[in-house]
Amino acid sequence: MNLFTGFLLLGLALASVSGAPAPPHGSAADDGAAVPDRCEGIEFDAITPDEKGSHFFFKGAYLWKGFRGSAQLSNESFKELDDIHHIGHVDAAFRMHNTKNPEDHDHIYFFLDDKVFSYYNHTLEEGYPKEIQEDFPGVPSHLDAAVECPTGECMADSVLFFKGQDVHVYDIDTKTLKTKTWSHLPVCTSALRWLEHYYCFNGHNFTRFNPVTGEVRGLYPKDARDYFMSCDSFGHGGDHKVPKCSEIKLDAISTDATGKKYLFAGPSLHASGHSA
Ligand SMILES: *[C@@H]1O[C@H](CO)[C@@H](O)[C@H](O)[C@H]1NC(C)=O
Ligand SMILES: *[C@@H]1O[C@H](CO)[C@@H](O)[C@H](O)[C@H]1NC(C)=O
Ligand SMILES: *[C@@H]1O[C@H](CO)[C@@H](O)[C@H](O)[C@H]1NC(C)=O
Repeated sequence: MNLFTGFLLLGLALASVSGAPAPPHGSAADDGAAVPDRCEGIEFDAITPDEKGSHFFFKGAYLWKGFRGSAQLSNESFKELDDIHHIGHVDAAFRMHNTKNPEDHDHIYFFLDDKVFSYYNHTLEEGYPKEIQEDFPGVPSHLDAAVECPTGECMADSVLFFKGQDVHVYDIDTKTLKTKTWSHLPVCTSALRWLEHYYCFNGHNFTRFNPVTGEVRGLYPKDARDYFMSCDSFGHGGDHKVPKCSEIKLDAISTDATGKKYLFAGPSLHASGHSA
């Protein structure tokens, strides 16, 4: 039942490293503020994939590209986030799944206070930032987290917006909102859809939940450092312990909606099934 059994970090690394060159991080220390280390157990502000399937983890003015590597200033990848608003952090982010509307599909939306930013190919779309109310009527400002939920996994192509213990389920077609309260979940400060599963991050922990009912099955929370990043003395060990591609047996290959392939290895990994 526990789909995480045998979840090998290498699978994550393979998926994220391809197409996302290692970022330079020399300039990160220039402002004097300490560059955050995600292996120290930080709480992310937001997590989202981009249109290429690379995952971005945000904290303060910094981001990490993919599941390994060090932090860089987020304004190096998404320059207007900081330029225009001078906030130095994002509240929430998600990648839009809206195949009916190619102009929005696969765009990354960032939420900062009462503003929304839409990026494609790391370029800010014309007309942004906008008021959240213009694009997503009814969605509150100062969000905690957001995650896309396509039809099949939710009733319709939707976005789940988290604020406190409330989740606002936004129907992309009808632009209508349904609010639920999931008080059994921790407050999600970031949320991620990964291989058709949904994860709520709180502190350095995460909890897998059903995107329709909020139900949690299995033993959660778990430490994100064991699964979503490569840290010495966590999970399967640091970079030096990750076996070479040629040494592992690939058990599953999964392709997501963008056509990106994810490779998995390990004893009982279940890459694409649903249990909840
Ligand atoms: C990026 O952010 C850093 C730290 O907030 C700041 O010092 C720097 O000037 C910013 N760069 C640009 C191009 O806005
Ligand atoms: C993406 O952006 C880069 C540079 O910002 C540009 O060179 C490239 O043509 C863009 N690609 C697409 C598909 O728009
Ligand atoms: C993370 O979860 C563990 C239980 O697995 C709990 O003891 C700990 O307090 C949690 N930490 C945070 C920061 O939420």
